[in-house]
Amino acid sequence: MKILVVHGPNLNLLGRREPDVYGSTTLDDINRQVLALAEELGMEAEVFQSNSEGAIVDAIQTKTFDALVINPAAYTHTSIAIRDAIAAVGRPAIEVHISNIHKREEFRRKSYISAVVSGQISGLGTEGYLLAVRASKKLLTR
Ligand code: DQA
Repeated sequence: MKILVVHGPNLNLLGRREPDVYGSTTLDDINRQVLALAEELGMEAEVFQSNSEGAIVDAIQTKTFDALVINPAAYTHTSIAIRDAIAAVGRPAIEVHISNIHKREEFRRKSYISAVVSGQISGLGTEGYLLAVRASKKLLTR
């Protein structure tokens, strides 16, 4: 059982990027926690970050995984290509946002991704990734 965790643009800057919105946890911290939890749950996990839309589409198309956890970051609000890639591979996916996108600027309320995922976790900080890993296991063992 393998989970692919994809982080979109600017998430490589976590820890120093708008800490009042995104907190002080770094991407390396998140990835370490995700990999440790996956191991504890008897799952495999791979983490991937890119600032490029095409690289994210390529990762979804070509990497081997059973379930996807994805924070598409700003591409959430713009990318039909990432949405189509998730729909095309037809595997369970969970959308994660560190901040509550529904409580922020109007343009963040629209997600092109939510219609093709099993569920969305938004506003629970970086804990959202860990909740998504647990939820992925449930989705895969249903
Ligand atoms: C984000 C929310 C997006 O609106 C924003 O563009 C991000 C991060 C979040 O995790 O809260 O880069 O996906």
